[in-house]
Amino acid sequence: MKKIAVLGATGSIGRQTLEVVDQLQGEVGVFALSAHGNVDLLAEQVDKYHPQVVAISDQSKLPLLRRRLSGWPGRVLSGEQGLVEIATAPEVDLIVSAVVGVAGLVPTYAALQAGKQVALANKETLVAGGHLIMAEANKRNSPLLPVDSEHSAVFQSLMGQDPTALKKIILTASGGPFLRSSLAEMEKVTPEAALAHPTWRMGEKITIDSATLMNKGLEVIEAHWLFGLDYDRIEVVIHPQSVVHSLVELVDGSILAQLGPADMRLPIQFALTYPERRVNTFSRLDLTSVGEIGFYPPDPQRFLSLQLAYAAGRTGGSMPTVLNAANEEAVRLFLGRRIGFTDIWRIVEVVMGEHDKQGLDQAPDLEAIIAIDQWARSAVKSCVRKVLK
Ligand SMILES: NC(=O)c1ccc[n+]([C@@H]2O[C@H](COP(=O)([O-])OP(=O)(O)OC[C@H]3O[C@@H](n4cnc5c(N)ncnc54)[C@H](OP(=O)(O)O)[C@@H]3O)[C@@H](O)[C@H]2O)c1
Repeated sequence: MKKIAVLGATGSIGRQTLEVVDQLQGEVGVFALSAHGNVDLLAEQVDKYHPQVVAISDQSKLPLLRRRLSGWPGRVLSGEQGLVEIATAPEVDLIVSAVVGVAGLVPTYAALQAGKQVALANKETLVAGGHLIMAEANKRNSPLLPVDSEHSAVFQSLMGQDPTALKKIILTASGGPFLRSSLAEMEKVTPEAALAHPTWRMGEKITIDSATLMNKGLEVIEAHWLFGLDYDRIEVVIHPQSVVHSLVELVDGSILAQLGPADMRLPIQFALTYPERRVNTFSRLDLTSVGEIGFYPPDPQRFLSLQLAYAAGRTGGSMPTVLNAANEEAVRLFLGRRIGFTDIWRIVEVVMGEHDKQGLDQAPDLEAIIAIDQWARSAVKSCVRKVLK
């Protein structure tokens, strides 16, 4: 039995990972689970999956979790160190990195350093620390397993291909709820409207990122690291139906793709059973009911986030860390109704500009990444005070 630790078990990906565990009927065992603040759900998951260790990253929730789990014989850990402990526990074969945001970086890096197989949903980890993560991942015989549906599609399309045959990667984007909105309409977008994604049900942060197209920008950087391609060889196309999850173009002009329903349990399952396939009862794609599908170029004027992500990726060094941290902070402010929707990318652009003036760190280590991340977050706050108010 493969033993897993799920970091971010109470989130959208974490919960779906546990549904996949149910389907796999004893093939995968849950050794450890983590949550940030959702004590009730974590306790329910403990009752159902009988892990041996849990971690709650929000330290203030530890007393409540201990009370809720009183009488349970397992270990209860807390804080970032708790996540690192479960990610590196000798009993764990594979970790599912499904925390949201850069908070996933330290435990994911620790898991790789400890030689664990990693199924990676937490794209912010690769955006902020891609060079560190890939250096560790490349020391292993088995690959870093992508959970993001686009990267899983690329990964699956490339299986069995000679790496020198790859010309480019084509990532598909649904375009989010404002695909056809004008910039003036986007200025007035509320959190409720931005959280209503047309094709995917996900956590709040990634749903807002999908609406600004920053999610696709983060995925471009993620693809750069996972597949080792220059940014000129990573293309984004709008594909509103979310049926073709991504494609690869080969040197002879052939294009290969992976198709399926908009159901994250499929890429999660493949990451858990790789390189094998397993039967499941999840939704299936009925091609005849899909209707017409289309592919369009994204409009860079209305979706500046995508351009900013390409620019940060091409600049490299510490710039993607700044892009990611400024975006995380700006999304938080938008969800708290402190800034408007289009302010998200305005703020990210200003903070990236400030970082550029200060000078980049070309190859930041983990400590430097954490410091730069913190700097970018405080720069967002002063940007809101100075520029937007
Ligand atoms: N959802 C999707 O369909 C999807 C698809 C592709 C990729 N991804 C990626 O997968 C990751 C997770 O996304 P999600 O949609 O599952 O997010 P989510 O529903 O918001 O869940 C996030 C998880 O992380 C935990 N968490 C929150 N803040 C944390 C912190 N500071 N430290 C440690 N843990 C923290 C949450 O705990 P509590 O619930 O206890 O607060 C929860 O378990 C993201 O990187 C996202 O981009 C998601």
